Amino acid sequence: MNIKISQNIKDIVPYPPGKPLEELEREYGITDSIKLASNENPWGPSPHAVEAIQKSLAGLHRYPDGSSHYLTDALAKWLEVDPTEIVLGNGSNEVIEFLVKALVSTGDEVITSHPSFLMYQKFVQIRGGVNKVIPLKDMTHNLDAIIESVTPKTRLIFLDNPNNPCGTFINQKQFSLFVTKLPEEVTLVLDEAYVDFVEPEKRIDIHRYLKDTEGKPSIVSLRTFSKAFGLAGLRVGFGIMSDELADLLHRVRQPFNINLLGQIGALAALADDDHYKLTLDQTIHGRNWLTEEVGKMGCVAYPSQTNFFLIDVKGDATSLYESMLHKGVIVRSMKAYGFPDFIRITVGTQSENIRFIKALRGCRLDLNYA
Ligand SMILES: Cc1ncc(COP(=O)(O)O)c(C=O)c1O
Repeated sequence: MNIKISQNIKDIVPYPPGKPLEELEREYGITDSIKLASNENPWGPSPHAVEAIQKSLAGLHRYPDGSSHYLTDALAKWLEVDPTEIVLGNGSNEVIEFLVKALVSTGDEVITSHPSFLMYQKFVQIRGGVNKVIPLKDMTHNLDAIIESVTPKTRLIFLDNPNNPCGTFINQKQFSLFVTKLPEEVTLVLDEAYVDFVEPEKRIDIHRYLKDTEGKPSIVSLRTFSKAFGLAGLRVGFGIMSDELADLLHRVRQPFNINLLGQIGALAALADDDHYKLTLDQTIHGRNWLTEEVGKMGCVAYPSQTNFFLIDVKGDATSLYESMLHKGVIVRSMKAYGFPDFIRITVGTQSENIRFIKALRGCRLDLNYA
């Protein structure tokens, strides 16, 4: 084999997904393990989505609607935007990919933070763009340093808000000021995968940035059905942006990028207020309970506006992660993200949360952290 491959592709480090339960159970010879590592919805998918999907299975021999008309329309109503201002993706991941494909050419610069969601930098690498990575300051996006690193070659800035893995967020005032300092050639992407968990009065109002964009930077909000809507396995996400930018993104997407079940499931989930509300209420309740319990053991839980948060476990996080795996509890060590004493956990159901606390207490004792 003699594949000719460019250096930017060789340099890509594969994305480290959370360990699947089946793999863990096989490796460790355990059963009944729990996964609190990928910020998924522990209350499952909306039952309405499951029912609608089941009813649609007989239609799988047909291609789906390439414009995802009904889902786009329903989203537009829910978000109070125009359908032309929405672009759907195979997960919001795919909308990130569209943005990079459409806007970044070899040598163009893209600004991201570290740590933040890893996929931004990967797509830029694939495209031969240049990643400029700005360290977080006090676990939050360093907006001043980001502005300073903008050059005439900057095409995109990605801000995950709330930030993954820290759960911190920037508010409307900080955001508005930041936008005024950006040149109009730059597209600013606000990745709001976890926005449903943010208190409504603390959210950024994307509507202000969609119209009258003359002389101003383009602003995009990315959302997903993978978190609060509990449909991570279906892969449906979307971006909200000016119709002009949406038109560009439609040019780089495949014609049937949202599959039939994804369209039907997401549409049903969007109409299921009960499941959505239960998810938000239970997440906030679980987060508060876990924060208190973790504090009782002398660890520090960092405030978060999401369904996950960081915990300073007061000892090596990777050893703790390994030790917890043996008890069938999967979390993430934050060592690779630059926080060697921190783990990140996703809020689970109450029984999962209780199991996590028990395992954390036991493992910290075993490792002499307590
Ligand atoms: C900040 C952030 N953005 C985007 C995504 C991707 O979401 P999706 O499942 O819609 O591709 C994730 C997933 O964990 C995330 O944490």
